[in-house]
Amino acid sequence: MFPRLVLYLASLHYLSPQTTCNAQDGFGYEHRTDAVWAQTYINTGLDVVCSISSVDSYVSTESPIAKAGVLANIGSSGSKSSGAKSGIVIASPSTTNPDYLYTWTRDSSLVFKALIDQYTTGADTSLRSLIDDFVSAEATLQQVSNPSGTVSSGGLGEPKFNIDETAFTGAWGRPQRDGPALRATAIITYANWLLANGNASWVSNTLWPILELDLDYVAGNWNQSTFDLWEEVDSSSFFTTAVQHRALREGIDLANAIGQTSVVSNYDTQADNLLCFLQSYWNPSGGYVTANTGGGRSGKDANTVLTSIHTFDPEAGCDAVTFQPCSDKALSNLKVYVDAFRSIYTINSGIASNAAVATGRYPEDSYQGGNPWYLTTLAVAEQLYDALIVWEAQGAINVTSTSLAFFQQFSSGVAVGTYASTTSTYKVAEYTPSGGGLAEQYSRSDGSPLSAVDLTWSYASVLTVFAAREGKTFASWGAAGLQVPSTCSSGGGGSGTVSVTFNVQATTVYGENIYITGSIDALENWSPDNALILSAATYPIWSITLNLPASTSIQYKYIRKYNGVVTWESDPNMALTTPASGSWIENDVWR
Ligand SMILES: *[C@@H]1O[C@H](CO)[C@@H](O)[C@H](O)[C@H]1NC(C)=O
Ligand SMILES: *[C@@H]1O[C@H](CO)[C@@H](O)[C@H](O)[C@H]1NC(C)=O
Ligand SMILES: *[C@@H]1O[C@H](CO)[C@@H](O)[C@H](O)[C@H]1NC(C)=O
Repeated sequence: MFPRLVLYLASLHYLSPQTTCNAQDGFGYEHRTDAVWAQTYINTGLDVVCSISSVDSYVSTESPIAKAGVLANIGSSGSKSSGAKSGIVIASPSTTNPDYLYTWTRDSSLVFKALIDQYTTGADTSLRSLIDDFVSAEATLQQVSNPSGTVSSGGLGEPKFNIDETAFTGAWGRPQRDGPALRATAIITYANWLLANGNASWVSNTLWPILELDLDYVAGNWNQSTFDLWEEVDSSSFFTTAVQHRALREGIDLANAIGQTSVVSNYDTQADNLLCFLQSYWNPSGGYVTANTGGGRSGKDANTVLTSIHTFDPEAGCDAVTFQPCSDKALSNLKVYVDAFRSIYTINSGIASNAAVATGRYPEDSYQGGNPWYLTTLAVAEQLYDALIVWEAQGAINVTSTSLAFFQQFSSGVAVGTYASTTSTYKVAEYTPSGGGLAEQYSRSDGSPLSAVDLTWSYASVLTVFAAREGKTFASWGAAGLQVPSTCSSGGGGSGTVSVTFNVQATTVYGENIYITGSIDALENWSPDNALILSAATYPIWSITLNLPASTSIQYKYIRKYNGVVTWESDPNMALTTPASGSWIENDVWR
């Protein structure tokens, strides 16, 4: 019925140089590897079954290594997580260059989402007590006062903690507002399973109080700027907005299911606002999703591919409103993102323009030399596997003008399928060292492992991509059929703005002035150039009154400028949570 479309499906799924295909044609099986042959069979309505032997053997050897790699990094009994409290996920045992022996809310939640999926689908029933440990560790961390605030004043946005469950007080890119959303998504998955298995009291009494804190935080703060998942850019982040949207939708369903209906109307409003805002990241002329609204980069970023796989809803079809993996926007974005890495890494040279390549976080990356990452390369494969799951269920592929460029990579025929999900997994197989251990990055020039060893998130990515490869799907989160409001409203942070006066006592020399800058738009996002000048009318008290968003945790510093030289106050940043209404006076002394 759709020969061309079926060929695309075949080309993506089945055919790569490492593929062996079998077709039952009445005379036994044929074993061939070329696309023309496969097309002939597909056009005559025969099933063609192919396997990619090198990937299959990679899956069988790497799966247990990845699972063990994840478990070794979870306290207190994980073999590489010595010193971590029970249920605490360490990011990596690496303690120098880089030091990752901390627990990040984002990484921990993504890792436990994968483990909870394994538990709730019956793939590994031994994980229950580990999951309970995780929930209780996260409940403890929620209450730890930290540089982002207390549990009620913004502290939930703190990105990372020490592995003994104390606050990390060093300088860092904070807040990161994806953490509470991802944690909620992981715990809601567990809660839904408990509900379905007759344990509603645990959900209502133990899980809901934890979830409500995170969901309230999301509903109240989504419209404030955030550091993104790479912890470098403070602006709005597509990944953060998308996972916040997902968490609220799931939170609404759970709240309804357990009778916590008082939160529903606010969550509903904010989820609609988030969905509306989410659309604004799409760059129609470039055909990709802009990862961050700030940061002076192209915006082509694995952030967007990770979004697609972490907000995959198998019941939402190829819905573009939520950027589902097989949506035209997500496919177009995938091509633009992958193409950005073709010419910049030596290991990608000589690879056909539609074949899978090693990819990194974003093309401008220079961290640890700016290399491909395992988890980003795996994310490309996982998006395609997710897309294939839906295409197979739908029996058709919808090519739109937006996704045309993506599909055109394969339509010229012969090298069909080399961009396939399967080849992308193969790439990682090729660059996995023989022990099977996965670090954070692998070298752009020769593929050797680099940066943090045994990165927990890399291992978790292996588990999720293999699950997708096997066609496994997990529960819907309610993405199907959502309507985008016709106008976008801003939402979080209470209603509107409050007046905040900053007074700082500072002795200056003639010609020297005091300025303020900080973590939000109204404080010029840490820009010394655009910092706001204070008045010296009551010298030595310098003063300025600003309208700032209400109920918002902010960080700021005063700076001095004299003859063009900028001097910052010493660390740590000053912090403040604005009141819900009225006004506030902050009295500081220069330090
Ligand atoms: C509900 O789940 C919790 C967490 O695993 C467990 O401790 C408790 O025994 C369960 N209760 C019932 C009735 O199954
Ligand atoms: C807040 O929401 C409005 C409306 O969608 C949007 O224009 C604005 O960029 C958002 N700001 C942040 C920081 O999220
Ligand atoms: C294909 O996509 C277009 C554009 O998004 C849409 O209008 C159309 O309804 C889709 N067709 C199918 C069969 O899904």
